[in-house]
Amino acid sequence: MIQLIRGCKDILPGETELWQKIEETAKEIFEDFGFREIRIPIMEKTELFARSIGEHTDIVEKEMYTFPDRGGEMLTLRPEATASIVRSYIQHKMYAQDPVRKFYTIGPMFRRERPQKGRYRQFYQINAEILGVAAPFADAQLIYMLTLLFSRLSVTDVTAHINSLGCPECRPDFREALLNYLSEREEELCADCRRRSRINPLRTLDCKVPKCREQMKDAPAITDRLCGECRTHFEKVQKFLHAMQVSFEIDKRMVRGLDYYTRTTFEILTGSLGAQSAVAGGGRYDGLIKILGGPDMPAIGFAIGLDRLTEICGINAESLQRKPALYIAALGENCQDKAFEWICALGQKGICAESDMEGKSLKSQMKRADRLGSPYVLILGEDELSSGQALLRNMKTKEQTAVPIENLPEKIKEIIK
Ligand code: HAM
Repeated sequence: MIQLIRGCKDILPGETELWQKIEETAKEIFEDFGFREIRIPIMEKTELFARSIGEHTDIVEKEMYTFPDRGGEMLTLRPEATASIVRSYIQHKMYAQDPVRKFYTIGPMFRRERPQKGRYRQFYQINAEILGVAAPFADAQLIYMLTLLFSRLSVTDVTAHINSLGCPECRPDFREALLNYLSEREEELCADCRRRSRINPLRTLDCKVPKCREQMKDAPAITDRLCGECRTHFEKVQKFLHAMQVSFEIDKRMVRGLDYYTRTTFEILTGSLGAQSAVAGGGRYDGLIKILGGPDMPAIGFAIGLDRLTEICGINAESLQRKPALYIAALGENCQDKAFEWICALGQKGICAESDMEGKSLKSQMKRADRLGSPYVLILGEDELSSGQALLRNMKTKEQTAVPIENLPEKIKEIIK
C-alpha cells in the first residue's frame, strides 16, 4: 500500500471542523481590522526565497523543496508566505495607488525539517501583513490581533515574547560586539554555533544546546545597543501593548530564523507542545520591499502555525461536527425514490438529511441513523406511502408521530427548526 510522504498528514473529517473554525475566526478578526485576503502561488522562483529569507538561513540552506521544472528553471515550494506577498505587492505596483495594504492569507508551506510532534514538512500557516506603515501602532495592532484570536479560540497556555533587532544603523555595532564576545568563547561552542558565528552570528543567541546557552548568557543584548529611533519605536510598541492590556515578555535572545527582520520581532510561545513551542512568529521587515526591487517601504507581519494551533486550541472538535437533522429510513424502491427527492429538497433548504441508498433493512437503517447522531428518523414503507402519512421518530424521546407526506420538506423544516 502506498503511504503518505513522511512529514505530511491527512486532516480528516472530525479534525477539519476545528481547522475551519480557526480559519473562520481568524478571517473574521482580520476583516474587522481592515485586512483583505490575498492568495499567492504555492511555487515561486527559488531566487525569491534565497534573496528574502537569506542564503545562510537553515530554511534556504537545508529545508527548501527546490527542483528544476521541465524548462530548467529552479522553482521552490514556498517555505513561507511573506516573500510572495511582497513580490505581489511590487509586481502589481500596489504601492502606487495606496501604499498602505493589509493582507491575510492561509495555506500550506513546505520545509524539509526532521518531523516530530508539532513539526511537519507540509504545514499550514495563517499570515497577516501590513505593508507601508512604519509607525509602531502597526506592530502593536498585529500583536493585539494575535492575542485576541488566541483568546477567542480558548487558547490559554501562551505568552507573547517580543524583542527588537535594530536597524542597519545600530545592528553593525551590535554585531561587532557580539563577534568580539564569540571570539573569546569559540572553543566552547557547538559546531553549528562556530559556523554561525562566521556567517550569521545573531543565530548563536538562540542556540538550544545547553553548553551554548550557558556560554551565551552574558552575551551583549541588542536591546541595550539600539539607536535612538529604534529605542523609541520599541518603547512605543510596549506602551501601546500596555494600553491594550496585552501581557508580554521582552526576550533579548529571540532572533528568529529568517534574515529579513528589522526592529520589532515577536513570537507566541506555548508550554503545551514540547520542543515546538512557537505557535506564531513575526516581525518588521522594513528593508525587504526594497531588497526585492520595490520602493523603500516599511512592513510588518506574522504567521501562525495552524497545525500547532489546532493542537492547543481549547475548543472541542466534536462539538463542531454537523450531524444530519433527519434520517429517512425508506423501505422499497418507491419509498427510496421519494426519499431521494426529499433529501434534495431539504438540502436545498439548508437542512441536511441522510438516507440509505442501497435498500438495507429497517434495522440496519435505524442503526446507521443512530451512528450518525440524527435526532429524527422519518420511517417510510409502502404502507405509509399509500396512506399518505410517514412516521417521524424522535430518537431521544422515542416518540413517533404521523406526518402527512404532502409537502413533506416544508413540514419537516417547521418541525425541526
Ligand atoms: P516562522 O517563525 O518561520 O515565520 O513560522 C511561523 C510559524 O509557523 C511558527 O511559529 C510555527 O508555529 C509554524 N511553523 C514553522 N515551521 C513549521 C513546521 N515545520 N511545522 C509546523 N509548523 C511550523 C515565518 O514563516 C514568517 N514568514 C512569519 C512572518 C510573517 N514574518 C513577517 N511576516
